[in-house]
Amino acid sequence: MTAAAAQVVIFGGTGDLSRRKLMPALAAIDQQEPGRIASVVGIGRRPKPDAAFRADITGDLAPDVRGAFTALAPRVFYRPADVADRSSLDTLERALAELPGGDVGRLYYLALEADLFEPAVRGLADAGLVAERGDAWRRVVVEKPFGHDLESARALNRMVEQYLRESQVYRIDHYLGKETVQNLLGFRFHNAIFEPLWNAHHIELVQMTVAETVGMGLGKGRGQFYDETGGLRDMVQNHMLQLVSLIAMEPPSSLDPEEIRSRKVDVLRALRCPDPDGMLAEGVRARYVAGEVDGKRVAGFRSEEGVAPESTTETYVALRAEIGTWRWGEVPFLLRHGKRLPKRFTEVVVHFRTPPLSLFDRPGDLDDIAYRRALRSGALCEMRPNVLRLRIQPSEGIELTFGVKAPGAAMRMVPATLDFDYRERFGTEPPEAYQRLLLDALHGDPTLFLRADEIEAAWRWVDAVRAGWERARVPVLEYPAGTWGPTEADQLFHGCEGSWSNG
Ligand code: BG6
Repeated sequence: MTAAAAQVVIFGGTGDLSRRKLMPALAAIDQQEPGRIASVVGIGRRPKPDAAFRADITGDLAPDVRGAFTALAPRVFYRPADVADRSSLDTLERALAELPGGDVGRLYYLALEADLFEPAVRGLADAGLVAERGDAWRRVVVEKPFGHDLESARALNRMVEQYLRESQVYRIDHYLGKETVQNLLGFRFHNAIFEPLWNAHHIELVQMTVAETVGMGLGKGRGQFYDETGGLRDMVQNHMLQLVSLIAMEPPSSLDPEEIRSRKVDVLRALRCPDPDGMLAEGVRARYVAGEVDGKRVAGFRSEEGVAPESTTETYVALRAEIGTWRWGEVPFLLRHGKRLPKRFTEVVVHFRTPPLSLFDRPGDLDDIAYRRALRSGALCEMRPNVLRLRIQPSEGIELTFGVKAPGAAMRMVPATLDFDYRERFGTEPPEAYQRLLLDALHGDPTLFLRADEIEAAWRWVDAVRAGWERARVPVLEYPAGTWGPTEADQLFHGCEGSWSNG
């Protein structure tokens, strides 16, 4: 065992996240860095023998992960404890100390219902479970949702501050663990050719879509949770705003975690939502009704288990936002997310401006002035040759479109693309997000985790959007499952700005 070995303790050890994501990720880490994981301890309220716990996990694993888990399994244990019960946490402290790696670093993963987060942190602290001694560090990974608005997030942050140092807290957003999301940093700040163009002078618009085909069928209690949460808070507040901050941030002066996170916070603080007058047209929300996805009939949102029949929760959001900085001026950032859409994909599309003087494909009878006027008025929309498409998932890659001359006597320009495909280039699948994030937490690298002020800045914007929806009485529209959402969202594009990319 190396000195850097650590114990990983998962509260909510028998839950969905632990079985589907954390255990496979830990098994992969164990192969990647043998000796790093001294033991994994699943915690749940009911007693369960270690052997039964191991068998449950093995039964859930995909066949290709079982081999890796077999090597880890003898170091996987189960201990009962209740975070709301102090005496059970006292017992747990002793139990953990006796398991392999009990006196080394320890990573607690709170894969718990949101309302257990506060008692868990307090309970761990009161029972002395987060006290650090020498090399025996104690870190706490917290799953989303971190609060449900600015006020609750602030209260949680203040509570956490009482018991833990900020450097002990790892607030997770699994999008940051995705290889292609991290590549946004690499792509922007390793290549000198894009950065000079990365501003309002050259970029006309940025659009971003996180489309999902799934509805609520992701586990017990999901419908009720989602009904209380909605798409804006479930996906936009965290995952999409993380994408926005990586796309829009200023270049960091180093890879220091605080430097990177500070530049991301700057973006979130400068994010504007449509003003009250614009909200009705530029802050679209909707919910799916019954329809067909992947050839199967599916129920509408209000008929999903756990969802109130008169629910007004949104499962679809489309917003026209802006970032009030010198770099971005009035460049629109169009954000769209929906459940039960026809296709699962996440993508960022950067539309570059038209050349200041277009020599080619200009309609013959227009002089310079008429031509410019026509461009501005929204005519001649086809004159936009340069588009950069950053494909986050599932077909990870980057595509740059530009105009080339079609063969023939006329100067006729047609689109061509330069295409980078992740699987083709590296001959492998991108690793799972949780693998990278857990490993970083074990190494003590917080770069890909959210800082307290980052979470609060994101909630401040989300609260403003929700208040805008209410003030402008923005209706919750309907769209049949398996369609691209309400047509009202098409109006977010003005003039020649184009239309939503459907992957
Ligand atoms: C979760 C949301 O954070 O992300 C879910 O709560 C959503 O509603 C999921 O389905 C999407 O993650 P991914 O990695 O499949 O895009």
